[in-house]
Parts: sequence; C-alpha cells; structure tokens
Amino acid sequence: MALTHFDLGLVGLGVMGRNLLLNMADHGFAVMGYDKDPAKGKALELEGTGKKVTSAIDLATLVSRLKTPRAVLLLVPAGKVVDAVLGELVPQLSRGDLVIDSGNSHFKDTERRQKEMAEKDIFFLGMGISGGEAGARHGPSLMPGGPRAGYDRVRPILEAVAAKVESGARSAERVEGALRAPRSALLSPPSALHSTCVAYLGHGACGHYVKMVHNGIEYGLMQLLAEVYDLLQRGMGFCCPEMAEIFEQWDQGELHSFLIEITAKIFRKTDTKTGKFLVDVISDVARQKGTGKWTSQEAFDLQVPFLTGDAAVSMRDLSGQEEARHAGSRTLLGAHNTFSNEPEAFLPHLEAAYHAASVITYDQGFALLQAASKTYGYDLDLATVARIWRGGCIIRAAVLEDIRHAFELQPGLVNLMLDSRLAQAITKRQRDLRFVVRTAIDLGIPVPALASTLAYFDGFRAARLPTNLIQAQRDFFGAHTYERIDEPGTFHTEWDA
Ligand code: 6PG
Repeated sequence: MALTHFDLGLVGLGVMGRNLLLNMADHGFAVMGYDKDPAKGKALELEGTGKKVTSAIDLATLVSRLKTPRAVLLLVPAGKVVDAVLGELVPQLSRGDLVIDSGNSHFKDTERRQKEMAEKDIFFLGMGISGGEAGARHGPSLMPGGPRAGYDRVRPILEAVAAKVESGARSAERVEGALRAPRSALLSPPSALHSTCVAYLGHGACGHYVKMVHNGIEYGLMQLLAEVYDLLQRGMGFCCPEMAEIFEQWDQGELHSFLIEITAKIFRKTDTKTGKFLVDVISDVARQKGTGKWTSQEAFDLQVPFLTGDAAVSMRDLSGQEEARHAGSRTLLGAHNTFSNEPEAFLPHLEAAYHAASVITYDQGFALLQAASKTYGYDLDLATVARIWRGGCIIRAAVLEDIRHAFELQPGLVNLMLDSRLAQAITKRQRDLRFVVRTAIDLGIPVPALASTLAYFDGFRAARLPTNLIQAQRDFFGAHTYERIDEPGTFHTEWDA
C-alpha cells in the first residue's frame, strides 16, 4: 500500500482491534495496525485486502506513518500491558498527539495515565467499547471520556464506526434499527432518524467509568437470565427448543434486547461432539475478568446500593466452588416441592418478572452513575449515556429508549423509579416478580438476583427502614450515637442502665 499518512494507528490486533480497524477502513479511513505477534498483522492485511488498511512491523513504523498530530488507539488487555505499551509508545510521540485506551481499564488507572500524559502534553482518552467482535466490526457502542480537544480530533472516525439506532422509538413500539438493523443501515451515515452510539461523555476517566457500570449492569442482567433459565428448565421442565421459542417470543415484545436475542440462539445450538444441546454440556463455572466486581466495589465506596450486581458477582464466585457444591448437593436436603400449576401458566409471570427486574437493574446502574458524576465532577448527561447504550453494546435493549426519554425530560431526576412511566412499568409487574421469587423459594431454586432486585425495590419504596434498630445496637455496644426523628442532634443512651 502506497499510503504514507494514516488517519489512525491501532495497537493490539486481537479480535476487537482487527475488527474495529476493518470497520474504520469500510468507512473510508486509512488505518494502520500493529501487534507484537506478526501473524495478527498478516491476518489483518489478508482480511482487509482492497481496503485502506495495513499493518506495521513495529511501533516505530506505526508512529512514523501516521498523520500528525497523531491518533493511536490501544486495544490491549487492561492493566500492566497498557502501561508497558505506553512505556514504549509515548517516547516516540510528540506534543499534541492523542492516545485512546479502549480496553476495559479501571477508571483509576485511566485517571493516573491521563495525569502522566498531560505532563507530556499528550491527549489521553479512556474509551469504553462494547459489542464484542460483531460490534467492533459493524457498529459498537463507544464511551469516550477525557480531553475534549482529543475527542474532537477523532470524532468523525468514531461517529462513522459506531452503531446507529433509530431515534425516538419507545419500548412499547416496534423497535427496528436498534437491535435488528440490517448491515446497510448500520453502515449508512447518521440521519435525523438515526442517532449514533457514541458521544463525548465528559472529562477525566468518565468513559471508562461508564463502561465499568455498563458491565455491572451486564453482570446483573446475565444473572437474572440465568435464574430465569433455571426456573424454566429445572423448575418447570422446559427443554432447550421450548426455551428458545419462549425467548424468541419475548424478544418480539417489550423485552426486545440483545441478551434475550442471543439466549434464544444459545438454546438452539447443538454440540457437534455429542449431539446434545451445547448449553447442557458447558461447565457451570462462570469466569470473570473483574469489571462486574469493580462496579460493586465502587458502589460500596460511593454508598450506592447495587444489589443485583452484587448478587451476580457472588453467584459467579459460588459457581467456582465446584467441589464444595458437589459435596453440598449430596448432603444438604432442600425443598421437594414441584410447581402445582401448568408450566405454561408460569410464563407470563416470568416474562413480567424479568421485565421489572431488568428495569430495576438499569435503575441501580444509573443511580451509581449519578453519584459518580457528583463525586468525581464528571457532569454526565444520563440521557446521552442511555442513548449510546441503545445500540451496539451488550446491554442494548428497547427499554433504554424509555430511560433516555425519562432523563431527557427530567435531567434532575433523582432516581429512574421516580419517573412515572418507568415506575408504572415496574409497579404493574411487581406482583409477578413477587410470585416468581416465592415460587423459586418453594422449589429451592436460587434466585439471588431476582430476590435482591425485588428487595431493593421494596427498600426504595419504604419511607422507614428497620435500620433504626441497627443504630440502637451500634449505640448499645459501641456508643456510636444515633439521631432522633423528633429532634436534631446526636444522642447516646446508657442502654443497660
Ligand atoms: C462488552 C463486554 C466486554 C467484557 C466481557 C467479559 O461490553 O463487550 O462487557 O467488554 O469484557 O463481557 O467480561 P467478563 O469476563 O468479566 O464476564
């Protein structure tokens, strides 16, 4: 390729990096990639034949062939690898160049790196990217944060490659485009009818913060769906093709979302080795790279409840205690109840219960973003966050349009559950959620995410919680003092006297 001046260089040609570069090249940008494994560079060139994309043999070549001021995007594993790549890359850059870290970096690492880069007059964006391989190739959701001038420089590239969604379609309506967009629509330029799933989110590490919370919500929704699956299969006796059909139907309605859509597909897949349904031969030990745990840790730090996410992380941890669970399954007796009604009669309750629980899960994520925005001064526009999550990302769902709408109409909304439309969506389904949790308890099926989501809802609507007793106990044994409901000030009582 004769081109000597590339619009952007990308370091890390794994699945995400390669596909994102090809996506950029599809939109007419001249891009260059580098990976320390030369085979990955070759694979990129092969797949990008005929497009303005090539690979560099080393970092120095990559840097030397970029238009100045340069833009370099990193898609390498979060943590030490990012620092190692920066250590090699930055001495070769010049003042005014831009580096974008698109891995799942911890926001505190991003803050540190932004300071280090600012001292060298290098712009550093932390940009969450979601959507996996298909998203990177055909339209991801991008969550950039950092210096505005840096974002503006790559804005045309990011807007071109990000997912496009039909704007304004509410969850109750048929949503085309957001989740089912044909490839031609995904590649077409944004119009008045389409909004793009990227926006400048603010300064500092807010891009990586928003991606972390995205993943916390992702963990929560996935655990809720695992519980729904357990109830369907173990509780009600549905088989894989039946569950596929149920999820396909749900995906046609208000639950329309990426996770529902892929779950239906998962239930259809058979294992080439055994001929069984593939999901049945997959080990139940769920792995994690840590972003869900970070969200819960951060929620504890900011004192924002994120019960659904906490349950999701704990259940992945419990899934890892395989041997102990096997011992427990042999010795600990549980309920021997069976569902007394027709299994089909349970389905509308389960659909409604998941609907309510998923809205409450998004609510907790947005509440955390709201608190973080105040604590770290991000000044996040939550309507914009909901908009860029409408397409491309793992948690994309029709209901996000209602969430976007709620924050757009009421930017100061204290909590999503105080929006009348969303409140109604939850309250009209709360009986179903209660029934499903009761049924699971009767059947001895663990549903910590469904149950704790319901508990969060009930806690949120309690004008008085029983935590006054905790205050009394704290004062009893530790003289920690308490406040009264009828008088200002702090009080201590000699409880034993
Ligand atoms: C996405 C995902 C992705 C995440 C994986 C793995 O938005 O595309 O969030 O970024 O890394 O889902 O996460 P765990 O290994 O922690 O489950």
